[in-house]
Amino acid sequence: MPQKIKVANVNEIPEGSSKIVEAAGKEIAVFNIKGKFFAISNICAHQGGSLGEGFVAGETVTCPLHAWEYDLETGESQTQPGAKVPAYKVIVENDGVFVEI
Ligand code: FES
Repeated sequence: MPQKIKVANVNEIPEGSSKIVEAAGKEIAVFNIKGKFFAISNICAHQGGSLGEGFVAGETVTCPLHAWEYDLETGESQTQPGAKVPAYKVIVENDGVFVEI
């Protein structure tokens, strides 16, 4: 049964930005892309780069270390077949951003 955990207020993650949070012992990167929120593990599947500090284009983030790209919706790498980071469902409720873990 997934837990719903509040990780931020909506105004802490303006459009076009991201925030690295911790929930249930996991490091998670939360992104606001044109008002739609995404959450994936902050830890790159390659060598642990911080995806929350990556470059975002569309709904893709590029790891700042060696440029692996990940789909923000699924966590699947678009450049490394088979590589994937966990992706989490995001719920926005009463100005709060929650992730399901
Ligand atoms: S650590 Fe992310 S691409 Fe190498």
